[in-house]
Amino acid sequence: MSGPETASAAAAERAEFLRDALAGLTGPAKSVPGKYLWDETGSDLFDRICASADYYPTRQEMTLLPRVAEAVARRVGPGATVVEFGSGASRKIRTLLDALERPAGYVAIDISRDYLEAAIRRLAPDYPAVEMVPVCADYSKPVRLPLETRGRTILGFYPGTSIGNFTPREAVAFLERARATLGPSLFLVGTDGTKDPERLRRAYAGPDGLMAALHLNLLARLDRDLGADLDPGNFRHAIRLCGDPDRVEAHLVARAGARYSLAGRPIAFEPGESIRTDTSHKYAPDAFRALAEEAGWRSAETWQDDLGSFTLHLLQG
Ligand SMILES: C[S@@+](CC[C@H](N)C(=O)[O-])C[C@H]1O[C@@H](n2cnc3c(N)ncnc32)[C@H](O)[C@@H]1O
Repeated sequence: MSGPETASAAAAERAEFLRDALAGLTGPAKSVPGKYLWDETGSDLFDRICASADYYPTRQEMTLLPRVAEAVARRVGPGATVVEFGSGASRKIRTLLDALERPAGYVAIDISRDYLEAAIRRLAPDYPAVEMVPVCADYSKPVRLPLETRGRTILGFYPGTSIGNFTPREAVAFLERARATLGPSLFLVGTDGTKDPERLRRAYAGPDGLMAALHLNLLARLDRDLGADLDPGNFRHAIRLCGDPDRVEAHLVARAGARYSLAGRPIAFEPGESIRTDTSHKYAPDAFRALAEEAGWRSAETWQDDLGSFTLHLLQG
């Protein structure tokens, strides 16, 4: 993008952030969409969370992925282009690229622009034969790839538990959009079905204060990007296990009542009132397969880790 295009894209992103923040913070049950957690600081904090012992999803997926990658590589065949949604530090993709026969391309889609570009700069020298295509985009909307997918073998990749950040309805809509983005393809998607409250608490309320820092960073971003004056010192990070539990919600809870402002609008908090900053839905394999099928995908194969909670689904569409 050239200078003026970059400036107008940045202005449009800011206008959307302001709209979403005002809609979420001026109503009775306050929330801000989780996608705003992801600036460079948020992405960096998440990478450190993944390295911690308490954050089980990354560890479980990384024990499963090498075995799955071999099986996927056999199905996909040579010369595939992998399209990853929410690529973050682009670490897990190495396992897939190493297993695939002569992979042709890697398209990394992420909303966190600077982090995305740095991750691809680190990855590219290790895979000189793979065309590297970073795409800064918001996948909660339709995404068009900057390359022709027709005639290519496409493998979609959505690891971690990010699909759980959508509500089940939104997840179906995302899977439909992913079909439109990828065209005829295979799609490898991670889901987590952990129910153990203690494991969930350790992963989502810990580890080492990093989760709290990730969520509190949203207040810094509201200040920096939108000029909101919410005082981070008045908020603490807390999680709520909801359902049986079938989802984990992250909140920033006001320690004391306060009045803040955003773009001239008052944002008032009672003591103990919170902002929901993210949700992680937990899926049993059957429940997720039903959502995928509703979105037009067919389940080709499913692998589970030894604990029977983390699942990698290979979908065909
Ligand atoms: C929880 S991290 C997972 C990173 C990596 N895929 C993994 O499994 O470790 C979520 C990633 O998705 C990106 N992300 C979140 N919402 C997004 C959206 N709406 N559009 C594009 N990227 C998004 C974030 O920037 C972040 O890199």
